[in-house]
Amino acid sequence: MTSRHSREPTATPAGGQDLVRTGPPEPVGAQDRARAARLAERFAEVYGHVPDGVWRAPGRVNLIGEHTDYNEGFVLPFAIDRSAMVAVRLRRDTGTGVGGRDVVELASTYAPDGSGLSRAGFPVAGPAPGSVPGWGAYPAGVVSVLTGLDDVTVPGFELLLDSTVPVGAGLSSSHAVEVATMVALDDLLGLGLDRPAMARMTQRAENEFVGAPTGIMDQSASLMGRTGSALFLDCRSLATELVPLPVAEHGLRVLVIDTKVAHSHADGGYAARRATCERAAAALGVDSLRDVPAETDLGALDEESARRVRHVLTENRRVLQCVQLLRKGDVAGVGDLLTASHASLRDDYEVSCPELDLAVDTALTAGALGARMTGGGFGGSAIALVPAAREEQVRDAVLRGFADVGPAAPDIFTVLPADGAGRVPE
Ligand code: GLA
Repeated sequence: MTSRHSREPTATPAGGQDLVRTGPPEPVGAQDRARAARLAERFAEVYGHVPDGVWRAPGRVNLIGEHTDYNEGFVLPFAIDRSAMVAVRLRRDTGTGVGGRDVVELASTYAPDGSGLSRAGFPVAGPAPGSVPGWGAYPAGVVSVLTGLDDVTVPGFELLLDSTVPVGAGLSSSHAVEVATMVALDDLLGLGLDRPAMARMTQRAENEFVGAPTGIMDQSASLMGRTGSALFLDCRSLATELVPLPVAEHGLRVLVIDTKVAHSHADGGYAARRATCERAAAALGVDSLRDVPAETDLGALDEESARRVRHVLTENRRVLQCVQLLRKGDVAGVGDLLTASHASLRDDYEVSCPELDLAVDTALTAGALGARMTGGGFGGSAIALVPAAREEQVRDAVLRGFADVGPAAPDIFTVLPADGAGRVPE
């Protein structure tokens, strides 16, 4: 299936199938509209006037294709039914300083200190990396990228954030904030940026401003996801295809098991993997691991690098196989690929952790069709593809498994493929 808004095919992946770009997402449902209306009311309480609008951007689950994006490979994530929402109003005042046209004021309903609201702010003219602490760095990163564009002037604005994407669970809560800010400013300033351009810019915000050397998968899923579909993305060309993922219709559930183990992509493990891949590509004489043929002898590489490369090559193949199964409507059939992906991430790429392995193993033993860590790893969440009739059994088994080894309990919930980012209609 391709998007109803599809344009000309722009790339042909190894599977020989055309990829096409997606268009803007469908309007959101009644629940999101009610949530947006509450956020707009809260905005009026906080800032003393109504916002110009409310925009939402979902978190993501990656079905398969892990640590392939920065190797210009393939990924198959989906936007989830949990999102960041921002109410925004452009500053119309002409003065400078606090309350003036040149200042961005931020507030979030997420306040870990229990104060009810966390506030931040920065001068719109050039927030420097490191100058805006905490979650404020995400909107600031977007502003920093936009102000660097020719012909774009960003005025000050007020923003109120509310998010249902759990923070630190590896479901891209930070990218959701960046994407929500990006689509809001694109709309309000009439920039007319297309979705791949917004994905590249939010990636720059994350890489250059926030300082996390991440790839382009998470932003793309948040911008280009669609209800009922996974997003098959070629991370080199940014060509996409929406692949049907009718989990509920097939009597299945995608369970997220948030291990509550903290992860951070600004930390060394992620960057080290990326650097190893770049060195290996150079040693193999190619621009990126995308260009390494499957049959290449990796014997010239050191043992660890060879395992890292093997993960990337096999993972790209698993993505293409998964896409082929989903195109045929075989949703249950992807289970084995998910489990194989986890084994490769655990053994060859070494980005899993005991809690993720426990979540995956207990889910599989209790009847999941497949399970794997999702996202960057070193903590965060696992996903399990589970027949609806076995959902309780799997949940119970995972909770018991965690209880047996320590006091920390995972958070377990289901997700559905949802629409990508956009303005919430009033
Ligand atoms: C994080 C990054 C992504 C991607 C994944 C691993 O989620 O933000 O760009 O690299 O890790 O697949």
